[in-house]
Amino acid sequence: MALKITVIGTGYLGATHAAAMAELGFEVLGLDVVPEKIEMLQRGQVPMYEPGLEELLGKHVAGIEGSSGRLRFTTDFAEVAAFGDVHFLCVNTPQKHGEYACDMSYVDSALASLAPHLTGPALVVGKSTVPVGSADRLAAYLAEHAPAGHDAELAWNPEFLREGFAVKDTLHPDRIVVGVRSERAERLLREVYATPLSEGTPFVVTDFPTAELVKTSANSFLATKISFINAMAEVCEAADGDVAKLAEAIGYDDRIGKKFLRAGIGFGGGCLPKDIRAFMARAGELGADQALTFLREIDSINMRQRGQMVELTRQALGGGPLLGKRIAVLGATFKPDSDDVRDSPALNVAGQVHLQGAQVTVYDPKGMENARRLFPTLGYADSAVEAVRGADVVLHLTEWREFRELDPDALGEAVAARVILDGRNALDPVAWRKAGWTYRAMGRPTA
Ligand code: UDX
Repeated sequence: MALKITVIGTGYLGATHAAAMAELGFEVLGLDVVPEKIEMLQRGQVPMYEPGLEELLGKHVAGIEGSSGRLRFTTDFAEVAAFGDVHFLCVNTPQKHGEYACDMSYVDSALASLAPHLTGPALVVGKSTVPVGSADRLAAYLAEHAPAGHDAELAWNPEFLREGFAVKDTLHPDRIVVGVRSERAERLLREVYATPLSEGTPFVVTDFPTAELVKTSANSFLATKISFINAMAEVCEAADGDVAKLAEAIGYDDRIGKKFLRAGIGFGGGCLPKDIRAFMARAGELGADQALTFLREIDSINMRQRGQMVELTRQALGGGPLLGKRIAVLGATFKPDSDDVRDSPALNVAGQVHLQGAQVTVYDPKGMENARRLFPTLGYADSAVEAVRGADVVLHLTEWREFRELDPDALGEAVAARVILDGRNALDPVAWRKAGWTYRAMGRPTA
């Protein structure tokens, strides 16, 4: 009989995982403790912007006309326990307030709510990003609190999806990594992922700590690549070099690779910044803090980029105070194709210039609602043209396709001065300069 799957936590990760599991043919029950989220999902609506996810939900959520009916949602842990053979834990693990460490309270409380209802064989599979050692601790908790005892087992299966590509990354992963303690757990996970879609996908079987570490080390490596190229941008800026050419040229070496070498205002979002900090905190607890001191530098290079963008803005406006200057900000989300503004470098820069007295007007294709909630005192406009009207300088801070396709000539009609600072190195300097703009980007020649 086909396995039945449950997904606990229906944020970016969980909602996508639940829909993907239904797409793969499983009966799926998703759970969240926030009833409003469940009501939306039951109508096939996604509580955030993620390309393709609403379509996928529409194909499978029970009650939607023409759907497979394989996907349902609930807020009831007892129902989840009774329904599923395999339970994926997909709750978030944010940074603790005022600390580097990771807040495990959502994972802990999800397991505490589920465990007492597990009366028969079950596999609980952690997907959240957690400090190494968590799976060990959670497995011991499960063994003690599930009435099924050792028949209720834990496994760890980190998730590598990117926002904006969540559906694609979930249905076509680069690799599947599972940390298991028994043949049964491995067999069940192989069954879950034994689909034509993942045929040929590397399936790495390992222990708990390694599975947990694969995720945090992958994110640390990605963060390191970005901060490395941003450090090179600083040197290029000082030496009149061109970091975009440099990235292209080193990227031809396939040991280095081209990806994640776009210099700019750095990384943000709900993952990379908090994951490297939690990793440092955990290494400290383990007595291995020396091994990760470089991550402190990665973090500080990253945060410095935001300040440098502010400085570039000040210079572009003549070097004096920003008081009363009109600054248009294109982009609010931490990356394009997402409405996520968590730790967004774009909004951080917008907030900094606003605090220095500038009149700031922000436009973002999908992030306006979240940005307004987080920074209610900034000005907002309904389009790029509206945002730049009368601006003394335009800051391009999130590389949405819509901004790359802007007509520099047409936009030039609206501004007070044709000055654009490209914080993402994503616009074509030649096209903007041809239209009479002063184009500047960090680590690139001024003309
Ligand atoms: C990341 C990981 O990529 C993913 O594997 C993991 O599961 C979750 O964390 P995500 O947070 O969605 O995914 O964003 P990602 O695409 O990695 O970008 C992170 C940040 O780095 C963004 O702010 C982006 O603008 C920035 N970035 C990325 C750069 O500044 N330069 C680059 O070259 C690439």
